[in-house]
Amino acid sequence: MARTRGDEEQALLDLAQRVLPAGSFGNLPGDIVIREGKGAHVWDVSGNEYVDFLLGSGPMYIGHCHPDVVAAVQAQIPRGTTFFANNEHGIKLAEAIVDAVACAEKVRFVSSGTEADAYAMRVARAFRGREKILKFEGGYHGMSDYSLMSLAPKRPGNFPQAVPDSPGIPHSVRDAMIIAPFNDPVMAASLIHEHADELGGVIVEPFQRLLPPKPGFLQALRDACTEHGIPLIFDEVVTGFRFSYGGAQEFYGVTPDLCTLGKIIGGGFPLAAIAGREDIMSLFDRGKAGDEKFLTQIGTLSGNPVAATAGLATLEVLRRPGAYDKIFATGRELMSGIGGMLQKAGLPAQVIGVPPLFDIVYAAGDVSDYRATLRADPAMQRRFNARFRASGILKGESKFYVSLAHEAADVRQTLDVVQAAVEAELAETRVPAQ
Ligand SMILES: Cc1ncc(COP(=O)(O)O)c(C=O)c1O
Repeated sequence: MARTRGDEEQALLDLAQRVLPAGSFGNLPGDIVIREGKGAHVWDVSGNEYVDFLLGSGPMYIGHCHPDVVAAVQAQIPRGTTFFANNEHGIKLAEAIVDAVACAEKVRFVSSGTEADAYAMRVARAFRGREKILKFEGGYHGMSDYSLMSLAPKRPGNFPQAVPDSPGIPHSVRDAMIIAPFNDPVMAASLIHEHADELGGVIVEPFQRLLPPKPGFLQALRDACTEHGIPLIFDEVVTGFRFSYGGAQEFYGVTPDLCTLGKIIGGGFPLAAIAGREDIMSLFDRGKAGDEKFLTQIGTLSGNPVAATAGLATLEVLRRPGAYDKIFATGRELMSGIGGMLQKAGLPAQVIGVPPLFDIVYAAGDVSDYRATLRADPAMQRRFNARFRASGILKGESKFYVSLAHEAADVRQTLDVVQAAVEAELAETRVPAQ
């Protein structure tokens, strides 16, 4: 079933080219304009329907336009859309986070994961009175200067030296970061011990992009940080309320000192949070911290009532019995179906991740750190993703996000599309007989 592009969508794409750099918002190539979404499906402006594994890059965990979220938002909008001051929904969302997330004794809202991570690193540095942050190569913590260190270096440097991912970042930031390899507990712990006197904090994605932590890795970070009193930050912007209701810290059984949350907790609206230990979070409280140690933190839309009520409604749906079982069952079926097809075809590709979030990595052998992901074949990835899109599967470049709204028919359709993509790959790349 070929996708068509109508005049209306083409005109919007042309306009986008005129007014947006690269014709896009920066997130995806500017070659599609989405008109609407419902449940696990989206439609482009030309009317093509897609099974949606992009999920708005993760927030739409219970599907687009869930009736409970729509009702909650519609109830709030006529009462006002932002106040700057405290509001009931924001306070209750903070309560839901404190109830669910093991490290969360206090919560501070911001509007994006980028902000949450930047503040988490700052509050850790302020708490410990040291300037450096250890992060992991390939770890994504948003777009701040500090986070754009060794996120995706084409030519990785020597550990622990940081490699900037963007021009425009002051040189000094590079010296403020220490880079360690993900999933290497011995090296990470030894870097933490060696730099303990300069470290303000350690930040990690407990599940880095697509890479599950090896058994013992997160605990090794926990132990090394505890030994020196260094705040350990889990970036749970993706994993929070996704891997389980209590996030990756519940799923993997390791509790950090601070975590950041985003995506799901805003129910499809801009909202994120820093959550953590009372003594660290009290630096955001002038009364407790005192003028010297108080950490200023203000945001126009922080705790926005529309976003907070959407987030609360989303969490309420996720608390219902069977919600995670359904999402995990859907994801498991997709992972094993796709993995089996790749294996049977003998392609150098494999499925990695966990049921709510996985993808195909176009490389053979063990892939458990950033450098191993560099072995992947980008041309093969592009070919597969293009076939998926052309056959009505919408996903990000390197992620399948599964939602509560995906049904058996979506799984069947997706597996058929993957099977056809595998066959096309074999046909295209088959070496002709001599
Ligand atoms: C692990 C992680 N941290 C932080 C962010 C940044 O969040 P935002 O895009 O809301 O700034 C993202 C976004 O995808 C993320 O995946």
